Amino acid sequence: MRKKIVAGNWKMNLNYEEAKLLLNTLINSAKSGNTNAEIIVCPPAIYLAAFSDILKSQSAVKLGAQNCFHQDSGAYTGEISPSQLKSLGVNYCIIGHSERREQFNESYDLLAKKAKALLKHQIQPIFCCGEQLEVRSNNVYKEFIMKQIEDSLFTLKAEEIAQVIIAYEPIWAIGTGKTATAVQAQEVHGLIRARIAKQFGDKTAADINLIYGGSCKSDNAKELFSQTDIDGGLIGGASLDAAEFSHISNSF
Ligand code: PGA
Repeated sequence: MRKKIVAGNWKMNLNYEEAKLLLNTLINSAKSGNTNAEIIVCPPAIYLAAFSDILKSQSAVKLGAQNCFHQDSGAYTGEISPSQLKSLGVNYCIIGHSERREQFNESYDLLAKKAKALLKHQIQPIFCCGEQLEVRSNNVYKEFIMKQIEDSLFTLKAEEIAQVIIAYEPIWAIGTGKTATAVQAQEVHGLIRARIAKQFGDKTAADINLIYGGSCKSDNAKELFSQTDIDGGLIGGASLDAAEFSHISNSF
């Protein structure tokens, strides 16, 4: 079932005290806000256990991880498994963020494994895709984005892909202050939904959540979120500011 989603990707920011303060402020504003959106925070992994305890007594804010490995357990020093995330009550996990694809060489095949492993533990993957500026300038972005999705997600069953949240994040818009226009974002979201419909049927396409990321802020969220195929946002920089993030969450 499609829902409205606003997810904060804190990346490698904030020390522990700062992170707890931000979380508590967000919980309070989510409780008093009038949004019907699913509000998700994705803090650095080291804070997940403590956040899970803090979030236990409420349902206004959900917990997400920024990454995971695809095996359940074993000799994988430094990695974290979906079953470990599940044991903390983590509901969502970002995979395939462009920063991980570029700086940690994550392949389409690896991301396919991560998506499957998360779904096995009923954690919803937030699967990121999106093109570099050259790809857009060369006008091959549509094929590029479809290949990212097809190669990593199209071995899933319809009922599995319906649980994946696809985040379209044009790389030229991430952390640059240069947002895709609502028309540019809607074009790609519409194409993704149409491709899902062709492969998995209309019901799956109608159910899957497609969110936008890339310099999404309170002053552009309303226009972006009002587009037919945009179900919310993955927010980086602006999610570190409680007031900004709450404004974005209330933008539907
Ligand atoms: P940004 O980051 O909102 O700072 O552009 C988005 C993201 O990287 O998920």
